Amino acid sequence: MTAASPRPAPTKPLIAALAGVRQPVPPLWLMRQAGRYLPEYRAIRAKAKSFLDFCYTPTLATEATLQPIRRFGFDAAILFSDILVAPDALGQSVSFEEGEGPRLKPIETAADLAALRDEADWSRLAPVFETVARVKATLPDAVALIGFCGAPWTVASYMIAGRGTPDQALARLFAYKNPDLFAALIDKLVELSTAYLERQLRAGAEAVQIFDSWAGVLPPVEFERWCVAPIARIVAKLHAALPEAPIIAFPRGAATQLAKFADLDGLAAIGLDTAAEPRAAAAALPARLALQGNLDPLALLAGGRALDEGIDRTLQGFAGRAHIFNLGHGILPETPIPHVERLVARVRAGG
Ligand code: CP3
Repeated sequence: MTAASPRPAPTKPLIAALAGVRQPVPPLWLMRQAGRYLPEYRAIRAKAKSFLDFCYTPTLATEATLQPIRRFGFDAAILFSDILVAPDALGQSVSFEEGEGPRLKPIETAADLAALRDEADWSRLAPVFETVARVKATLPDAVALIGFCGAPWTVASYMIAGRGTPDQALARLFAYKNPDLFAALIDKLVELSTAYLERQLRAGAEAVQIFDSWAGVLPPVEFERWCVAPIARIVAKLHAALPEAPIIAFPRGAATQLAKFADLDGLAAIGLDTAAEPRAAAAALPARLALQGNLDPLALLAGGRALDEGIDRTLQGFAGRAHIFNLGHGILPETPIPHVERLVARVRAGG
């Protein structure tokens, strides 16, 4: 008698799509799928003293990660955390003011930069890895867990300005005036982000996304230097350490510069923003890269015909390509839940 062969691990649709294999129904998740549009999120959010405490409390962060999976049955869970835990772990003061967004003590001088830690305080981030492990242990078999970090440029822009701005002018100005200092900050963030993503993957994340939400404000030379090159370094190092781990880059606003991501060895997918034209993006990027996106979050908020047509156009635009259905940016807090239910049903029905 021969021993029974081990049962093959279930292939998760998200992981298959990230391997470049087109799925009959595209796997679906939404950026910022855990958050204020969910009443159950607002209920547990009220239990934490601050947003960072919430992110650093594994029971609460695990629950927030799982809420959208339970409600909508998405194909992926994204770790509940924030990109600004990175500067927090480097010792910069970070807080979130109710209704105002993040506030950091701005980095203005060489001394401010020198005051940051050389390496992250990993003990501060330990609850994040615990959350990853807890979520992984409870997720349904077919659902993949995505870890994430902010890209160096986007994180640096908040570290310099100390808050969100419409165009990250303060960070761009700082980079022009102090290119060596800015490069040192970017280098620090490349090291931190690589190690942070590697730790998330070792704790149980099955894919990672690098959010470069502010890529689109950079002119071509700066785009190459502060967006593409640092992401390329993270991808190369992470791919060398964990060759199986799929990596998604989301350079929001990359527009005609998307092709600069075509040669990143080890990259599995590109996330496209709302303004990207699916067929133009497909033409600019090699077939081995899966494409993720890119329904307008406002179409989801609007519902009705705008939503139905937006879903159908998105499905058609990516037909013939390994596609992961997503929004072009995060879901808006005002989004009605029935619209999300309709989105899930329509995508799964093929439009
Ligand atoms: O996608 C998910 O569901 C996972 C969780 C997640 C959050 N932030 C939770 C969050 C992720 C992946 C992020 C990424 C993030 N954070 C980005 C990149 C993506 C993007 O949207 O561009 C950026 C730029 C940030 C920084 C940040 N965090 C800002 C500007 C704000 C304030 C604006 C806002 O939406 O409130 C946050 C706070 C934040 N991060 C909230 C959530 C759910 C809201 C805070 C609260 O609930 O009190």
